[in-house]
Amino acid sequence: MSIQNTIKSMTTTQILKKKGVEKITMLTAYDALMAKIFDGEVDMILVGDSLQMSFFGESDTLGATLEQMIYHTKAVCRGAKSSLIVCDMPFGSTTTPEIALKSAIQIYKETKAQAIKLEVGFEGLQSIQMLVENGIAVMAHIGLKPQFVRSEGGYKVQGKTQESVESLIKLAKDIEQKGAFSILLEGVRAEAAKAITQSVGIPVIGIGSGADVDGQVLVWSDAFGFFEEFKPKFVRQYLKGVELLRQGVRQYVKDVKSGAFPNEQESY
Ligand code: KIV
Repeated sequence: MSIQNTIKSMTTTQILKKKGVEKITMLTAYDALMAKIFDGEVDMILVGDSLQMSFFGESDTLGATLEQMIYHTKAVCRGAKSSLIVCDMPFGSTTTPEIALKSAIQIYKETKAQAIKLEVGFEGLQSIQMLVENGIAVMAHIGLKPQFVRSEGGYKVQGKTQESVESLIKLAKDIEQKGAFSILLEGVRAEAAKAITQSVGIPVIGIGSGADVDGQVLVWSDAFGFFEEFKPKFVRQYLKGVELLRQGVRQYVKDVKSGAFPNEQESY
């Protein structure tokens, strides 16, 4: 018997060891094409349920299904061989510890994702424990939780009061104690995010949570200028994707109309 796969991918242990040593990088991807480009450049790739917005054109993430997450995670796993791949658990797939376990097992069986991410509060601690006890690596998403956007009436920055900071610190410590390998902290005031990060021994990956966390994650279409609907304050655009692509599209149309494409070399 031979082990075919010679490319070693990033492990959760390696991610854990980066805390306090070097910043951790993460981007979302939803298909093999993008995953191949990001692979090895970033430590982790998240197949986020944000695909429901940036890929599917919806106004929030709640419609994403387990089947969709699995389909896109399969594609990402085909494209990426060395970054650690995390599959997001969609709305409704973690309502009880048993349902969370069933959903996560389905993800592990049908894809090659090395970890799952779930949005949690204190009520989700038992699910984390059950997943970890069953050999599933867990990233816990706390702070602003997009799956709660409808019930909470919008996207609201967290950690604004002493009480909420203390509650987030307690939650982060409980999550670590239940065995999660990392925390994703979204939309938390920078000072609070720093205190939360310092209170745990596992890496805290921030989005919209300032600089004093252990790493950053961005939705790829935000980072590279492919999502024009709105640009949150915390996003830095590293590329003007829409502009670049539109230029290419217009040149293609011009060349076809004028007869400049295809030329002799491009013909059989
Ligand atoms: O679904 C997603 O892409 C996320 C972001 C916060 C990174 O969870």
